[in-house]
Amino acid sequence: KKKKKKKPFVCYVGVDVGTASVRAALVTRDGLLRSTAEEPISIWEPQSDHYVQSSTEIWEKCCTVVKKVTQGVERNQVRGIGFDATCSLVVLDQTFQPVPVSQDGDRQKNVVMWMDHRAAEQAARITNTGHKVLSRVGGVMSPEMQPPKLLWLKENLKESCWNKAAHFFDLPDFLSWKATGSLTRSLCTLVCKWTYCPPEGWDASFWTSIGLEDLLENNFSKIGSVTCSPGSPLGGGLTQEAAVDLGLVPGTAVGASLIDAHAGGLGVIGADVKGFNLPCEDQPITSRMAMICGTSTCHMAISEQPLFVPGVWGPCLSAMVPDMWLNEGGQSATGRLIDHMVKGHAAYTQLQEQAQQRSNIFSYLNSHLSLMANAHSAVDLLGSSLHVWPDFHGNRSPLADPTLKGMVVGLSLSQTLDDLALLYLATVQALALGTLHILEAMKEAGHDIRTLFLCGGLSKNSLFVQIHANATGLPVVLPDQMEAVLIGAAVLGACASQDYTTIQEAMEKMAKVGKVVQPNQELKR
Ligand SMILES: *[C@@H]1O[C@H](CO)[C@@H](O)[C@H](O)[C@H]1NC(C)=O
Ligand SMILES: *[C@@H]1O[C@H](CO)[C@@H](O)[C@H](O)[C@H]1NC(C)=O
Repeated sequence: KKKKKKKPFVCYVGVDVGTASVRAALVTRDGLLRSTAEEPISIWEPQSDHYVQSSTEIWEKCCTVVKKVTQGVERNQVRGIGFDATCSLVVLDQTFQPVPVSQDGDRQKNVVMWMDHRAAEQAARITNTGHKVLSRVGGVMSPEMQPPKLLWLKENLKESCWNKAAHFFDLPDFLSWKATGSLTRSLCTLVCKWTYCPPEGWDASFWTSIGLEDLLENNFSKIGSVTCSPGSPLGGGLTQEAAVDLGLVPGTAVGASLIDAHAGGLGVIGADVKGFNLPCEDQPITSRMAMICGTSTCHMAISEQPLFVPGVWGPCLSAMVPDMWLNEGGQSATGRLIDHMVKGHAAYTQLQEQAQQRSNIFSYLNSHLSLMANAHSAVDLLGSSLHVWPDFHGNRSPLADPTLKGMVVGLSLSQTLDDLALLYLATVQALALGTLHILEAMKEAGHDIRTLFLCGGLSKNSLFVQIHANATGLPVVLPDQMEAVLIGAAVLGACASQDYTTIQEAMEKMAKVGKVVQPNQELKR
């Protein structure tokens, strides 16, 4: 008998810089998580609505977590590394030293965080220009994107920041620059958050019309002259210096980065679904939608041709899967809304006491609802006289109205745990119907979505998942490895290493189906 030759062990590192922590994972060629590590990072709030971080600290923490997860493997077995991060704005000077973004002038504080809303007024002014680049972001410039933040810095910190700044990076691109020395930006960040539009690139008239004509200088070198698709190999891989910092071999492949939600999408959407009897089997990948469900939810759909969906961001070319167009819908508060409703209820303390035996309050609430249902009716009918309108933090998609507010209709004079459970149920139902609303808008514009791929914290809540399947009538696929974002980051490293020829191939091998939840099933306890 011929012995099958065993492939040598190789692995990839995925690094995810979230809002409050940095995580890394060591991932095998087959997409299994070997080890993970996490380190907190600082967030400063020098004044209200201002949230800032330090790029020096973030890089140091990246090095710590990468060293932790690569302990116990040969350094040359690590074939590639990929980064994803929140879309915060990093400012560096001519010699790549941090430039302060706060009034206090503290040089360590050189990152304007994604959730920093200092530039709300600038964003509104940019929206009012009605410039054609806005058609790619649903017609509205968000204060969480980069142009309004840049404008704020010019208008408010001209001397101490704007005049000294030589490089403005989105955080994911800062990390890949730090690792490789390459100034090439990922299309993911530039297209989604900076109004870059391939194949034309930057629109000079946009920057001039908002008063930032200084950025045109030297072929837009301050905000990026050269771009590439996520996962493309950058420079000559890790520089000598970065290799020492990270404890890896110089020249190790580094893939162009992704925004964190997009990495989650990459970590689930391309999974091989053979044998699961799903409607997306043997269909193009465009029949799938990835939902990254955490404090807020992102709805990622891809298409071969650009599709304009009212109230949904995009179409953005190569922003997630190379050479495909991305539409990104979203709900501004989902996990956060569920927490808000449950914690604000009079019976919350009682819930905490009751749930003490359990791992968390939500699994307690889910079984409590099943018990209530057994006595009276199906779970979904329990909430038939209580209704929530979930836009407590505005509606990102498909209404694109940040001024909308929430509603609860059908309240009674009750403070019981049953009452809390029903409010929780009605909230989850409202969020699922919000997803249906987004799906309908996407369908209207030409998307044909047949299966949902969920990841993120809320995808661990069985009620949330089942109600989404019921409300949309679509099967929901849950990933095999719960840390889909880290898998997505590792896919970038695997693609850059050229062990896989394309992102699609790497996704198919490294993203795995864990479980399928069909619509209209009874909730399993
Ligand atoms: C400016 O940058 C673009 C890419 O963004 C590149 O195609 C072009 O050749 C550059 N022009 C000059 C004059 O360097
Ligand atoms: C899903 O639908 C089934 C069939 O209609 C129903 O029995 C079940 O209660 C629903 N689940 C939830 C969580 O609403």
